[in-house]
Amino acid sequence: EKISDWEVSQSPSAKALLEAANYLRTKDTPVAFPTETVYGLGADATRTAAVKGIYSAKGRPSDNPLIIHVPDLDMLRYVLRPATENEATNGVRDQIPEIYKPLIERFWPGPLTILMPNPAPSKLAPEVTAGLKTFGVRMPASPLARSLIKLVGAPLAAPSANASTKPSPTTAAHVLEDLDGRIELILDGGSCPVGVESTVVDGLCDPPVVLRPGGVSIDELRKCPGWENVEKAYKDHSEAGKVAPRAPGMKYKHYSPKAQVVLYEATCPDLHKGVDKEAIELKANNSNIVGVIRTRLWQMGGGLICGNFKEQERLVAPLESDSQAGVELEVREADLYKSLDGATTGKLLDVSIGKDSRSIAHGLFSALRELDRRGADVIFVEGTLDDEDIGAAVMNRLRKAASLIKS
Ligand code: TXA
Ligand code: MG
Repeated sequence: EKISDWEVSQSPSAKALLEAANYLRTKDTPVAFPTETVYGLGADATRTAAVKGIYSAKGRPSDNPLIIHVPDLDMLRYVLRPATENEATNGVRDQIPEIYKPLIERFWPGPLTILMPNPAPSKLAPEVTAGLKTFGVRMPASPLARSLIKLVGAPLAAPSANASTKPSPTTAAHVLEDLDGRIELILDGGSCPVGVESTVVDGLCDPPVVLRPGGVSIDELRKCPGWENVEKAYKDHSEAGKVAPRAPGMKYKHYSPKAQVVLYEATCPDLHKGVDKEAIELKANNSNIVGVIRTRLWQMGGGLICGNFKEQERLVAPLESDSQAGVELEVREADLYKSLDGATTGKLLDVSIGKDSRSIAHGLFSALRELDRRGADVIFVEGTLDDEDIGAAVMNRLRKAASLIKS
């Protein structure tokens, strides 16, 4: 192959890409690669042995289907044709369902996964779809990801490249943290700009539904013809104003750091008062290392967290610029002084991840991991506005981490 045929913007080098592609064609161990959402753990979706390698590296139950990634519509059309069909004569037939065309036009390449009918017999290994009659597919925006898939010459099945139950990885270092010793290659493309996974939609039912909120918002979807009445088909519920600490020792399926996560919904009018303050003191008294993730109000010095620690000034993080993805994670450490009853000393790890929802999405998983790595016993997180662009995806992941949602 001539690598120069493709857009390769930065590191990793063309040589690393070729090596990874060659590895994916011939070996059965998956390769981690960057996408614009999170790092994926990729394998040739047409080879059973390779796809099985994903499940074993991740420790993921094999009844959870994987999505596939394509670099262009030609490869999607190829997958949509039955394996028995004569490519030469039937190659021009377009089997992409009409309902998806406006979405493809508007959001691809990008963070949107759509469900397609899986033809019989299919070119995809049966392990990809876990027995379902549909497969999920997206065209990633990352030029590195698309170049890699083109070089492999087959769609890549890829879940997020974390160990099952951990927050999804948004840097190569996160992948290494979880999968060191289980995989041999990680393509390092820097940090992922979006920071949460793709939106998953099903347009094969009426009305169409969102199965997972993600990088493309419901509002954006509703602007597309045929998608005006799209419904949410994922579990979500606002627990505004309630503190819902997770019970120690309980196991959760997704996005869970080791620390106990306590989520504050930003829409709660009583955010600064009452029950919240008591809860914080309670938790602070029982924990040596307390993490705080600030998003909106708390960053402006608002909120009660500061009130519980003596050195208020040091704890008020500077306002992040309302910048795009790219805000570096900054962790400030401070001593945790005695709370009102005099029982606690310890350490406060204070993180601001921006105040616009794109920055928050970009920094969220990274912040959870960083606080875990530094041994936080409890993490207080300020929620963001739900249903506001990518804010819905952020709140969905946070409610799972804080165990407000059980699956
Ligand atoms: O942003 C992303 O989507 C990342 C990057 C690597 O592309 N990938 C990712 O994959 O998050 P994964 O496997 O962790 O999540 C795919 C989601 C799962 O919730 C899975 O249950 C759902 O899509 N899914 C996949 N195929 C499906 C199908 N045929 N029917 C219903 N849900 C499906
Ligand atoms: Mg995942």
